[in-house]
Amino acid sequence: MDINLIYFLIFFFPITFCDCKKYYNYTLYRGIPVEAKDLEFFQNLTQVEHVNFWREPGRMFKPVDFVVDPEYKELFLKDANNLGLYITTIIEDVQKAFDTQSVKPYIRRNIESFDWNNYYRLKDIYEWLRDLANTYPAEMKVTTIGRSNENREILAVEITLKGCKMRSKVIVEGGIHAREWISPAFVTYFINEILHAPYSKDEEFKDIAMTYEWYFVPVLNPDGYEYSHTNDRMWRKNRNQLGSVDLNRNFDHAFGTTGVSFRMSSETFCGLSAFSEPESQAMASFVESKSHQLEYYFAFHSYGQYMIMPYANMKMHVENFDDVYKMCLEAKTKIAKRYNTAYTVGTAYDTVGYMTSGVSGCWVKANLRVPYVVTFELRDTGYHGFALPPGKIQPTCLETMDGVISLLKPQTKAYARLEGKYNYDSGAIFILDKIILVFNVLLFIIVRFD
Ligand SMILES: *[C@@H]1O[C@H](CO)[C@@H](O)[C@H](O)[C@H]1NC(C)=O
Ligand SMILES: *[C@@H]1O[C@H](CO)[C@@H](O)[C@H](O)[C@H]1NC(C)=O
Ligand SMILES: [Zn+2]
Repeated sequence: MDINLIYFLIFFFPITFCDCKKYYNYTLYRGIPVEAKDLEFFQNLTQVEHVNFWREPGRMFKPVDFVVDPEYKELFLKDANNLGLYITTIIEDVQKAFDTQSVKPYIRRNIESFDWNNYYRLKDIYEWLRDLANTYPAEMKVTTIGRSNENREILAVEITLKGCKMRSKVIVEGGIHAREWISPAFVTYFINEILHAPYSKDEEFKDIAMTYEWYFVPVLNPDGYEYSHTNDRMWRKNRNQLGSVDLNRNFDHAFGTTGVSFRMSSETFCGLSAFSEPESQAMASFVESKSHQLEYYFAFHSYGQYMIMPYANMKMHVENFDDVYKMCLEAKTKIAKRYNTAYTVGTAYDTVGYMTSGVSGCWVKANLRVPYVVTFELRDTGYHGFALPPGKIQPTCLETMDGVISLLKPQTKAYARLEGKYNYDSGAIFILDKIILVFNVLLFIIVRFD
Protein backbone atom coordinates (compact mmCIF):
# COMPACT_ATOMS: atom_id res chain seq x y z
CA MET A 1 0.00 0.00 0.00
CA ASP A 2 1.10 3.56 -0.68
CA ILE A 3 2.93 4.91 2.35
CA ASN A 4 1.06 8.23 2.08
CA LEU A 5 -2.21 6.39 2.16
CA ILE A 6 -1.12 4.64 5.38
CA TYR A 7 -0.26 7.99 6.97
CA PHE A 8 -3.57 9.33 5.77
CA LEU A 9 -5.42 6.41 7.35
CA ILE A 10 -3.55 6.72 10.64
CA PHE A 11 -3.86 10.47 11.05
CA PHE A 12 -7.22 11.27 9.59
CA PHE A 13 -9.45 8.44 10.65
CA PRO A 14 -10.43 8.47 14.29
CA ILE A 15 -10.40 4.95 15.65
CA THR A 16 -13.97 4.12 16.48
CA PHE A 17 -13.81 0.37 17.03
CA CYS A 18 -13.11 -1.03 20.46
CA ASP A 19 -9.76 -2.66 21.05
CA CYS A 20 -11.22 -4.32 24.10
CA LYS A 21 -9.94 -7.73 25.02
CA LYS A 22 -12.68 -10.29 24.41
CA TYR A 23 -13.56 -13.03 26.85
CA TYR A 24 -15.43 -15.46 24.60
CA ASN A 25 -15.47 -18.96 26.07
CA TYR A 26 -13.81 -17.82 29.28
CA THR A 27 -15.76 -19.46 32.10
CA LEU A 28 -16.51 -18.26 35.62
CA TYR A 29 -16.23 -21.15 38.07
CA ARG A 30 -16.91 -21.44 41.76
CA GLY A 31 -15.22 -23.79 44.16
CA ILE A 32 -15.73 -24.24 47.86
CA PRO A 33 -12.71 -25.47 49.81
CA VAL A 34 -13.72 -28.05 52.40
CA GLU A 35 -10.25 -29.40 53.19
CA ALA A 36 -6.80 -27.87 53.62
CA LYS A 37 -5.62 -29.33 50.31
CA ASP A 38 -8.54 -27.67 48.49
CA LEU A 39 -7.53 -24.32 49.84
CA GLU A 40 -3.95 -24.99 48.79
CA PHE A 41 -5.16 -25.87 45.30
CA PHE A 42 -6.99 -22.53 44.99
CA GLN A 43 -4.05 -20.66 46.44
CA ASN A 44 -1.82 -22.29 43.83
CA LEU A 45 -4.34 -21.31 41.19
CA THR A 46 -3.91 -17.61 42.04
CA GLN A 47 -0.37 -17.87 40.59
CA VAL A 48 -1.60 -19.22 37.24
CA GLU A 49 -1.77 -16.58 34.54
CA HIS A 50 -4.67 -18.29 32.77
CA VAL A 51 -6.87 -17.65 35.81
CA ASN A 52 -8.40 -14.38 37.01
CA PHE A 53 -9.89 -14.33 40.49
CA TRP A 54 -13.15 -12.56 41.14
CA ARG A 55 -13.22 -13.81 44.72
CA GLU A 56 -9.92 -14.78 46.27
CA PRO A 57 -9.48 -17.88 48.40
CA GLY A 58 -9.65 -17.12 52.09
CA ARG A 59 -10.96 -19.46 54.70
CA MET A 60 -12.44 -22.92 54.50
CA PHE A 61 -16.05 -23.04 53.23
CA LYS A 62 -15.88 -19.53 51.75
CA PRO A 63 -16.68 -19.60 48.02
CA VAL A 64 -13.88 -18.88 45.57
CA ASP A 65 -14.81 -17.46 42.13
CA PHE A 66 -12.44 -17.34 39.19
CA VAL A 67 -12.42 -17.04 35.42
CA VAL A 68 -10.43 -19.63 33.46
CA ASP A 69 -9.38 -19.00 29.87
CA PRO A 70 -10.45 -21.47 27.16
CA GLU A 71 -7.03 -23.05 26.58
CA TYR A 72 -6.52 -23.83 30.28
CA LYS A 73 -10.06 -25.07 31.05
CA GLU A 74 -9.44 -28.72 30.23
CA LEU A 75 -6.27 -29.00 32.31
CA PHE A 76 -7.84 -27.12 35.19
CA LEU A 77 -10.93 -29.33 35.26
CA LYS A 78 -8.75 -32.45 35.15
CA ASP A 79 -6.65 -31.26 38.10
CA ALA A 80 -9.72 -30.26 40.09
CA ASN A 81 -11.31 -33.61 39.35
CA ASN A 82 -8.20 -35.54 40.42
CA LEU A 83 -8.30 -33.72 43.72
CA GLY A 84 -11.99 -34.56 44.18
CA LEU A 85 -12.96 -30.88 44.13
CA TYR A 86 -16.50 -29.97 43.32
CA ILE A 87 -16.52 -27.12 40.81
CA THR A 88 -19.65 -25.28 39.68
CA THR A 89 -19.94 -23.36 36.43
CA ILE A 90 -21.47 -19.96 37.11
CA ILE A 91 -21.05 -18.17 33.77
CA GLU A 92 -20.24 -20.37 30.79
CA ASP A 93 -19.19 -17.47 28.55
CA VAL A 94 -18.06 -14.37 30.42
CA GLN A 95 -17.97 -12.21 27.26
CA LYS A 96 -21.67 -12.85 26.62
CA ALA A 97 -22.38 -11.71 30.19
CA PHE A 98 -20.28 -8.55 29.73
CA ASP A 99 -22.08 -7.84 26.45
CA THR A 100 -25.34 -7.31 28.37
CA GLN A 101 -23.79 -4.34 30.18
CA SER A 102 -24.99 -1.53 27.97
CA VAL A 103 -23.07 1.72 28.15
CA LYS A 104 -25.14 4.77 27.24
CA PRO A 105 -23.85 8.19 26.25
CA TYR A 106 -24.95 11.14 28.36
CA ILE A 107 -26.38 14.07 26.44
CA ARG A 108 -24.78 17.29 27.64
CA ARG A 109 -27.12 19.72 29.45
CA ASN A 110 -29.84 17.12 29.47
CA ILE A 111 -29.68 15.95 33.06
CA GLU A 112 -32.56 13.55 32.53
CA SER A 113 -30.54 11.59 29.96
CA PHE A 114 -28.47 10.15 32.83
CA ASP A 115 -30.21 7.20 34.46
CA TRP A 116 -29.65 4.02 36.47
CA ASN A 117 -30.59 1.56 33.75
CA ASN A 118 -27.22 1.77 32.00
CA TYR A 119 -23.57 2.19 32.78
CA TYR A 120 -21.62 5.30 31.76
CA ARG A 121 -18.13 6.25 30.68
CA LEU A 122 -16.05 8.51 32.92
CA LYS A 123 -16.50 11.60 30.73
CA ASP A 124 -20.27 11.19 30.86
CA ILE A 125 -20.33 10.80 34.64
CA TYR A 126 -18.18 13.92 34.96
CA GLU A 127 -20.30 15.97 32.53
CA TRP A 128 -23.47 14.97 34.32
CA LEU A 129 -21.95 16.00 37.66
CA ARG A 130 -20.94 19.40 36.25
CA ASP A 131 -24.38 19.93 34.72
CA LEU A 132 -25.98 19.07 38.07
CA ALA A 133 -23.70 21.53 39.88
CA ASN A 134 -24.64 24.23 37.36
CA THR A 135 -28.31 23.51 37.97
CA TYR A 136 -27.94 23.61 41.77
CA PRO A 137 -25.08 26.08 42.32
CA ALA A 138 -26.12 26.94 45.87
CA GLU A 139 -26.13 23.34 47.07
CA MET A 140 -23.61 21.46 44.99
CA LYS A 141 -19.99 22.02 44.04
CA VAL A 142 -17.62 19.89 41.94
CA THR A 143 -13.93 20.11 42.80
CA THR A 144 -10.77 18.40 41.56
CA ILE A 145 -8.98 16.69 44.43
CA GLY A 146 -6.04 15.47 42.37
CA ARG A 147 -4.97 13.77 39.20
CA SER A 148 -4.44 10.14 38.30
CA ASN A 149 -1.31 8.47 36.91
CA GLU A 150 -2.58 9.22 33.39
CA ASN A 151 -3.44 12.78 34.41
CA ARG A 152 -7.20 12.37 34.57
CA GLU A 153 -9.06 14.51 37.09
CA ILE A 154 -10.31 12.92 40.28
CA LEU A 155 -13.54 14.75 41.02
CA ALA A 156 -15.26 15.26 44.34
CA VAL A 157 -18.83 16.44 44.85
CA GLU A 158 -19.74 18.56 47.86
CA ILE A 159 -23.39 18.99 48.81
CA THR A 160 -24.74 21.15 51.60
CA LEU A 161 -28.48 21.60 51.41
CA LYS A 162 -30.20 24.87 52.27
CA GLY A 163 -31.02 24.96 55.96
CA CYS A 164 -28.49 22.21 56.69
CA LYS A 165 -28.00 21.71 60.42
CA MET A 166 -24.25 21.13 59.90
CA ARG A 167 -24.02 18.45 62.48
CA SER A 168 -21.10 16.54 60.89
CA LYS A 169 -19.65 15.19 57.65
CA VAL A 170 -20.10 12.11 55.50
CA ILE A 171 -17.57 10.97 52.90
CA VAL A 172 -18.50 8.47 50.22
CA GLU A 173 -15.85 6.70 48.12
CA GLY A 174 -16.62 4.88 44.87
CA GLY A 175 -14.81 3.29 41.98
CA ILE A 176 -11.49 2.44 43.63
CA HIS A 177 -11.59 -0.90 41.78
CA ALA A 178 -12.07 -0.41 38.06
CA ARG A 179 -14.22 -3.39 37.09
CA GLU A 180 -16.77 -2.92 39.89
CA TRP A 181 -19.02 -0.75 37.72
CA ILE A 182 -21.97 -0.87 40.10
CA SER A 183 -19.94 1.19 42.59
CA PRO A 184 -19.79 4.50 40.63
CA ALA A 185 -23.35 3.78 39.48
CA PHE A 186 -24.56 3.64 43.07
CA VAL A 187 -22.53 6.68 44.18
CA THR A 188 -24.05 8.80 41.40
CA TYR A 189 -27.47 7.61 42.54
CA PHE A 190 -26.60 8.55 46.14
CA ILE A 191 -25.57 12.06 44.97
CA ASN A 192 -28.81 12.46 43.04
CA GLU A 193 -30.93 11.35 46.01
CA ILE A 194 -29.25 13.72 48.49
CA LEU A 195 -29.43 16.65 46.08
CA HIS A 196 -33.16 16.10 45.51
CA ALA A 197 -34.00 15.31 49.13
CA PRO A 198 -35.64 18.73 49.74
CA TYR A 199 -38.34 17.69 47.24
CA SER A 200 -38.85 14.29 48.86
CA LYS A 201 -42.09 13.34 50.59
CA ASP A 202 -40.11 11.13 52.95
CA GLU A 203 -39.65 13.44 55.95
CA GLU A 204 -37.15 11.18 57.68
CA PHE A 205 -34.95 11.03 54.60
CA LYS A 206 -35.21 14.78 54.11
CA ASP A 207 -34.14 15.28 57.71
CA ILE A 208 -31.09 13.02 57.31
CA ALA A 209 -30.07 14.76 54.08
CA MET A 210 -30.22 18.11 55.92
CA THR A 211 -28.26 16.84 58.91
CA TYR A 212 -24.90 16.32 57.21
CA GLU A 213 -22.38 17.91 54.92
CA TRP A 214 -21.86 15.48 52.04
CA TYR A 215 -18.71 14.62 50.13
CA PHE A 216 -18.55 12.09 47.32
CA VAL A 217 -15.70 10.79 45.20
CA PRO A 218 -17.59 8.65 42.67
CA VAL A 219 -14.59 7.40 40.65
CA LEU A 220 -11.38 7.33 42.68
CA ASN A 221 -9.62 5.25 40.03
CA PRO A 222 -10.54 7.07 36.79
CA ASP A 223 -7.74 5.52 34.68
CA GLY A 224 -8.69 2.01 35.70
CA TYR A 225 -12.38 2.72 35.14
CA GLU A 226 -11.74 3.97 31.60
CA TYR A 227 -9.39 1.07 30.92
CA SER A 228 -12.13 -1.35 31.97
CA HIS A 229 -14.32 0.24 29.29
CA THR A 230 -11.78 0.54 26.49
CA ASN A 231 -9.26 -2.28 26.92
CA ASP A 232 -10.01 -4.90 29.52
CA ARG A 233 -13.37 -5.35 31.24
CA MET A 234 -11.75 -7.35 34.05
CA TRP A 235 -9.24 -4.61 34.99
CA ARG A 236 -9.12 -3.93 38.75
CA LYS A 237 -6.09 -1.78 39.60
CA ASN A 238 -4.93 1.72 38.64
CA ARG A 239 -2.75 2.39 35.57
CA ASN A 240 0.78 2.91 36.76
CA GLN A 241 3.24 2.30 33.90
CA LEU A 242 5.79 0.88 36.31
CA GLY A 243 3.36 -1.67 37.70
CA SER A 244 -0.31 -1.09 38.34
CA VAL A 245 -1.36 -0.94 41.96
CA ASP A 246 -4.41 -2.14 43.85
CA LEU A 247 -5.30 1.24 45.36
CA ASN A 248 -7.25 -0.38 48.18
CA ARG A 249 -4.00 -1.95 49.41
CA ASN A 250 -1.96 1.24 49.10
CA PHE A 251 -3.18 3.25 52.12
CA ASP A 252 -0.91 3.69 55.10
CA HIS A 253 -2.54 1.25 57.45
CA ALA A 254 -0.65 -1.96 58.27
CA PHE A 255 0.76 -1.47 54.78
CA GLY A 256 2.16 -4.55 53.03
CA THR A 257 1.48 -6.96 55.90
CA THR A 258 -1.34 -9.26 54.91
CA GLY A 259 -3.51 -10.16 51.89
CA VAL A 260 -1.28 -8.28 49.46
CA SER A 261 1.37 -9.12 46.92
CA PHE A 262 4.67 -7.48 46.05
CA ARG A 263 4.53 -9.04 42.59
CA MET A 264 3.69 -6.21 40.21
CA SER A 265 1.55 -8.46 38.02
CA SER A 266 -0.62 -9.52 40.95
CA GLU A 267 -4.20 -8.25 41.20
CA THR A 268 -3.44 -7.26 44.79
CA PHE A 269 -0.03 -5.60 44.22
CA CYS A 270 0.07 -3.01 47.02
CA GLY A 271 2.76 -0.75 45.53
CA LEU A 272 6.31 -0.38 46.79
CA SER A 273 5.33 1.94 49.62
CA ALA A 274 2.19 3.28 51.25
CA PHE A 275 0.67 6.17 49.31
CA SER A 276 2.97 5.58 46.36
CA GLU A 277 0.04 6.36 44.04
CA PRO A 278 -1.41 9.79 43.17
CA GLU A 279 -4.96 8.46 43.52
CA SER A 280 -4.58 7.18 47.09
CA GLN A 281 -2.59 10.32 47.99
CA ALA A 282 -5.33 12.56 46.61
CA MET A 283 -8.00 10.73 48.59
CA ALA A 284 -5.98 10.81 51.80
CA SER A 285 -5.36 14.59 51.56
CA PHE A 286 -8.98 15.19 50.71
CA VAL A 287 -10.23 13.14 53.66
CA GLU A 288 -7.70 14.82 55.97
CA SER A 289 -8.89 18.24 54.82
CA LYS A 290 -12.45 17.24 55.77
CA SER A 291 -11.59 15.37 58.95
CA HIS A 292 -13.13 17.95 61.29
CA GLN A 293 -16.36 16.36 62.53
CA LEU A 294 -16.08 13.61 59.96
CA GLU A 295 -18.58 11.06 61.25
CA TYR A 296 -19.12 8.56 58.42
CA TYR A 297 -16.91 7.06 55.77
CA PHE A 298 -18.50 4.71 53.25
CA ALA A 299 -16.70 2.84 50.48
CA PHE A 300 -18.56 0.98 47.74
CA HIS A 301 -17.30 -2.13 46.00
CA SER A 302 -18.73 -5.27 44.45
CA TYR A 303 -19.51 -8.06 44.81
CA GLY A 304 -20.69 -10.42 47.58
CA GLN A 305 -23.37 -8.47 49.52
CA TYR A 306 -21.30 -7.69 52.58
CA MET A 307 -21.06 -4.80 55.00
CA ILE A 308 -17.45 -4.89 56.08
CA MET A 309 -16.22 -3.10 59.19
CA PRO A 310 -12.64 -2.28 60.24
CA TYR A 311 -10.11 -3.59 60.69
CA ALA A 312 -9.32 -5.70 57.63
CA ASN A 313 -5.91 -6.79 58.92
CA MET A 314 -7.04 -8.49 62.12
CA LYS A 315 -9.45 -11.11 63.42
CA MET A 316 -10.16 -9.15 66.61
CA HIS A 317 -13.25 -7.01 67.01
CA VAL A 318 -11.98 -3.74 68.43
CA GLU A 319 -13.05 -0.22 69.37
CA ASN A 320 -16.77 0.41 68.70
CA PHE A 321 -17.18 -2.76 66.64
CA ASP A 322 -20.20 -3.91 68.66
CA ASP A 323 -22.07 -0.61 68.19
CA VAL A 324 -21.40 -0.41 64.46
CA TYR A 325 -22.23 -4.09 64.10
CA LYS A 326 -25.64 -3.45 65.62
CA MET A 327 -26.21 -0.54 63.22
CA CYS A 328 -25.22 -2.72 60.29
CA LEU A 329 -27.61 -5.48 61.36
CA GLU A 330 -30.42 -2.94 61.34
CA ALA A 331 -29.33 -1.75 57.89
CA LYS A 332 -29.22 -5.37 56.72
CA THR A 333 -32.86 -5.81 57.80
CA LYS A 334 -33.85 -2.62 55.94
CA ILE A 335 -32.07 -3.79 52.78
CA ALA A 336 -33.76 -7.19 52.88
CA LYS A 337 -37.22 -5.62 53.20
CA ARG A 338 -37.29 -4.40 49.63
CA TYR A 339 -36.18 -7.40 47.53
CA ASN A 340 -35.01 -9.96 50.07
CA THR A 341 -31.38 -9.24 49.24
CA ALA A 342 -29.31 -10.91 51.95
CA TYR A 343 -26.25 -9.15 53.36
CA THR A 344 -23.60 -10.48 55.73
CA VAL A 345 -21.95 -8.21 58.30
CA GLY A 346 -18.52 -8.36 59.95
CA THR A 347 -14.82 -7.72 59.48
CA ALA A 348 -13.10 -8.77 56.25
CA TYR A 349 -12.02 -11.96 57.98
CA ASP A 350 -15.60 -12.69 59.14
CA THR A 351 -17.19 -11.99 55.76
CA VAL A 352 -14.98 -12.59 52.72
CA GLY A 353 -12.76 -14.87 54.79
CA TYR A 354 -9.36 -13.28 54.25
CA MET A 355 -7.46 -10.43 55.83
CA THR A 356 -6.05 -7.51 53.88
CA SER A 357 -4.04 -4.38 54.60
CA GLY A 358 -3.56 -0.87 53.27
CA VAL A 359 -7.35 -0.49 53.00
CA SER A 360 -8.78 3.05 52.70
CA GLY A 361 -11.49 2.76 55.36
CA CYS A 362 -9.08 1.27 57.90
CA TRP A 363 -6.67 4.15 57.39
CA VAL A 364 -9.54 6.64 57.83
CA LYS A 365 -10.74 5.04 61.04
CA ALA A 366 -7.33 4.49 62.61
CA ASN A 367 -5.83 7.87 61.73
CA LEU A 368 -8.74 10.27 61.84
CA ARG A 369 -10.74 8.46 64.55
CA VAL A 370 -13.85 8.44 62.39
CA PRO A 371 -16.49 6.52 64.33
CA TYR A 372 -18.53 4.93 61.52
CA VAL A 373 -16.66 3.32 58.67
CA VAL A 374 -18.39 0.74 56.49
CA THR A 375 -17.30 -0.83 53.21
CA PHE A 376 -20.12 -2.24 51.11
CA GLU A 377 -19.69 -5.10 48.70
CA LEU A 378 -22.79 -4.56 46.57
CA ARG A 379 -24.70 -7.10 44.49
CA ASP A 380 -24.59 -9.86 43.72
CA THR A 381 -23.28 -13.08 45.28
CA GLY A 382 -21.66 -14.28 42.07
CA TYR A 383 -24.45 -15.23 39.71
CA HIS A 384 -23.47 -12.28 37.52
CA GLY A 385 -20.47 -11.06 39.48
CA PHE A 386 -18.90 -8.00 37.83
CA ALA A 387 -21.17 -8.58 34.83
CA LEU A 388 -24.20 -7.28 36.76
CA PRO A 389 -26.85 -6.55 34.09
CA PRO A 390 -28.10 -2.96 33.72
CA GLY A 391 -31.59 -4.03 34.84
CA LYS A 392 -30.16 -4.73 38.28
CA ILE A 393 -28.61 -1.28 38.76
CA GLN A 394 -31.76 0.46 39.91
CA PRO A 395 -32.88 -2.25 42.38
CA THR A 396 -29.35 -2.33 43.78
CA CYS A 397 -29.41 1.45 44.23
CA LEU A 398 -32.82 1.45 45.89
CA GLU A 399 -32.03 -1.23 48.45
CA THR A 400 -28.53 0.07 49.18
CA MET A 401 -29.94 3.53 49.81
CA ASP A 402 -32.35 1.96 52.34
CA GLY A 403 -29.37 0.48 54.14
CA VAL A 404 -27.30 3.64 54.02
CA ILE A 405 -30.17 5.78 55.36
CA SER A 406 -30.58 3.35 58.23
CA LEU A 407 -26.88 3.68 59.08
CA LEU A 408 -27.08 7.47 58.89
CA LYS A 409 -29.69 7.91 61.59
CA PRO A 410 -27.86 10.10 64.08
CA GLN A 411 -26.66 7.86 66.90
CA THR A 412 -26.35 10.65 69.47
CA LYS A 413 -27.42 14.28 69.60
CA ALA A 414 -23.93 15.60 69.03
CA TYR A 415 -21.06 14.46 66.88
CA ALA A 416 -18.78 12.17 68.85
CA ARG A 417 -15.31 11.30 67.64
CA LEU A 418 -14.17 7.73 68.18
CA GLU A 419 -12.98 7.37 71.79
CA GLY A 420 -9.36 6.71 72.65
CA LYS A 421 -6.35 6.62 70.42
CA TYR A 422 -5.73 3.86 67.97
CA ASN A 423 -3.28 1.47 69.57
CA TYR A 424 -3.51 -1.66 67.47
CA ASP A 425 -0.79 -0.20 65.33
CA SER A 426 1.58 0.45 68.21
CA GLY A 427 3.79 -1.57 70.51
CA ALA A 428 4.16 -5.26 69.76
CA ILE A 429 1.67 -5.36 66.91
CA PHE A 430 3.25 -2.36 65.24
CA ILE A 431 6.72 -3.95 65.42
CA LEU A 432 5.28 -7.26 64.25
CA ASP A 433 3.68 -5.47 61.29
CA LYS A 434 7.04 -3.97 60.35
CA ILE A 435 8.76 -7.35 60.66
CA ILE A 436 6.10 -8.95 58.46
CA LEU A 437 6.47 -6.14 55.92
CA VAL A 438 10.26 -6.57 55.75
CA PHE A 439 9.84 -10.34 55.55
CA ASN A 440 7.34 -10.01 52.69
CA VAL A 441 9.65 -7.71 50.76
CA LEU A 442 12.64 -10.03 51.25
CA LEU A 443 10.58 -13.05 50.26
CA PHE A 444 9.48 -11.21 47.17
CA ILE A 445 13.07 -10.36 46.23
CA ILE A 446 14.26 -13.93 46.81
CA VAL A 447 11.42 -15.46 44.81
CA ARG A 448 11.92 -12.99 42.02
CA PHE A 449 15.65 -13.46 41.59
CA ASP A 450 16.19 -17.13 42.29
C1 LIG B 1 -16.32 -21.34 21.95
O1 LIG B 1 -16.41 -22.73 22.14
C2 LIG B 1 -17.33 -23.36 21.25
C3 LIG B 1 -17.46 -24.82 21.65
O2 LIG B 1 -16.23 -25.38 21.99
C4 LIG B 1 -16.85 -23.18 19.84
O3 LIG B 1 -17.73 -23.78 18.91
C5 LIG B 1 -16.73 -21.68 19.53
O4 LIG B 1 -16.18 -21.50 18.23
C6 LIG B 1 -15.86 -20.98 20.55
N1 LIG B 1 -15.95 -19.55 20.33
C7 LIG B 1 -14.86 -18.77 20.22
C8 LIG B 1 -15.13 -17.31 19.96
O5 LIG B 1 -13.73 -19.17 20.35
C1 LIG C 1 0.54 -26.41 45.27
O1 LIG C 1 1.80 -26.08 44.74
C2 LIG C 1 2.87 -26.71 45.40
C3 LIG C 1 4.16 -26.14 44.84
O2 LIG C 1 4.16 -26.18 43.43
C4 LIG C 1 2.77 -28.24 45.22
O3 LIG C 1 3.82 -28.89 45.89
C5 LIG C 1 1.43 -28.68 45.82
O4 LIG C 1 1.24 -30.07 45.59
C6 LIG C 1 0.27 -27.91 45.20
N1 LIG C 1 -0.93 -28.27 45.92
C7 LIG C 1 -2.06 -28.65 45.35
C8 LIG C 1 -3.17 -29.04 46.24
O5 LIG C 1 -2.20 -28.68 44.14
ZN1 LIG D 1 -13.40 -3.79 45.26
